[in-house]
Amino acid sequence: MHLHFIPFFAVLISGVLCTFYDYGYDGGYAGPEGDYYVSSLSLGPSTANCAPECTCPFNYPSAMYCDNRKLKVIPMVPAGIQYLYLQSNMIEAIEEDAFKNVTELKWLILDHNQLTNGKIKKNAFSSLKHLVKLYISFNNLTELVGPLPKTMDDLRVTNNKISKITPNILEGLENLTHIHLQYNALKEDSISGAFKGLKQLEYLDLSFNELTKLPKGLPPSITTLYFDNNKIANIPDEFFQGFKALQYLRLSNNKLKDGGVPGNAFNISSLVELDLSFNELGSIPAVNEGLENLYLQVNKIQKFNLNSFCKIIGPLEYSKIRHLRLDGNNISRVDLPQDMYSCLRVASEIDLG
Ligand SMILES: *[C@@H]1O[C@H](CO)[C@@H](O)[C@H](O)[C@H]1NC(C)=O
Ligand SMILES: *[C@@H]1O[C@H](CO)[C@@H](O)[C@H](O)[C@H]1NC(C)=O
Ligand SMILES: *[C@@H]1O[C@H](CO)[C@@H](O)[C@H](O)[C@H]1NC(C)=O
Ligand SMILES: *[C@@H]1O[C@H](CO)[C@@H](O)[C@H](O)[C@H]1NC(C)=O
Ligand SMILES: *[C@@H]1O[C@H](CO)[C@@H](O)[C@H](O)[C@H]1NC(C)=O
Repeated sequence: MHLHFIPFFAVLISGVLCTFYDYGYDGGYAGPEGDYYVSSLSLGPSTANCAPECTCPFNYPSAMYCDNRKLKVIPMVPAGIQYLYLQSNMIEAIEEDAFKNVTELKWLILDHNQLTNGKIKKNAFSSLKHLVKLYISFNNLTELVGPLPKTMDDLRVTNNKISKITPNILEGLENLTHIHLQYNALKEDSISGAFKGLKQLEYLDLSFNELTKLPKGLPPSITTLYFDNNKIANIPDEFFQGFKALQYLRLSNNKLKDGGVPGNAFNISSLVELDLSFNELGSIPAVNEGLENLYLQVNKIQKFNLNSFCKIIGPLEYSKIRHLRLDGNNISRVDLPQDMYSCLRVASEIDLG
């Protein structure tokens, strides 16, 4: 019997100088700087009831721009504002009635200020019955803020000093899809169970924290999980098996060794991209057939085990790996098995460094 396929031969890159981490980190720290980050100081005249320190453009009257104005307190916010930009100021406190006039507020941007938890009044946010985005990165928070309105869908609290998430503070946020918590000081005990019950959660970034374990109680709706740059040494048996939607998993720059990774830990049927670079793995872990991108650069891998990609090889059974990085390990071209392309049929780039 003949197999009717023509393998696409992979480009073997070896001996080429390459910068680690040259692949696109689109979802990583692109920064909360979206286009709103551009200074609004050049905007034209304001509508009549705008706060004098701020700008409310005529053609966008539901927005009030107060960024980059050295403000120490939140200005008066007139009724009707739905988008409030307060980033890059010196705001230290939020009073209970700061947003009293604007229950229709949808976006509240507070990045790059001097906020501390002690000076944010407990119910500062809870009256905002339409709030969907709260950005409060680059402040001096030590705990996650809350309670937050149940309408929230995007919460960004990166680059603070958060070491604690009060249990249940995120409870009932049934529409929350994105949480950005990278660059904080979170330890696993302080977050276990924190994300439980977030029925729509898709994206959780916990990279650049101090986790030594994966947090318990992550919702099964998750598609994207980033744990880069923590101190994780173990993956509990079957930990990811319940995550039927998980597509992107990053665990680079942790302390993973073979002994801490059970055999099928990363054989997660829905996974498309897996980043295990900069760990201490001695072998290639078993991965799912559908995985497309696997980053294993800078580990201690000595052997190319085809079995990690294909348990069986057949006309329809083969690995979907396109891009495989193995540079910074102890593998050279001679270590690659001759029958490699019967399994890695669509690999277009295998990087051996
Ligand atoms: C609410 O709006 C009124 C009238 O525009 C204004 O005088 C008052 O200062 C506002 N309050 C706050 C807390 O912004
Ligand atoms: C916030 O942290 C910065 C840097 O650690 C510090 O300089 C500043 O004084 C802090 N501000 C407040 C209000 O605590
Ligand atoms: C969640 O989103 C749906 C669809 O946009 C909306 O109908 C519902 O009211 C939202 N729930 C809350 C608590 O805001
Ligand atoms: C991954 O798991 C599937 C389903 O349990 C199994 O059929 C497959 O052989 C596993 N792949 C590897 C490389 O172990
Ligand atoms: C790399 O692998 C070769 C054999 O494949 C072995 O002789 C050598 O000691 C290894 N080097 C390191 C640094 O482990």
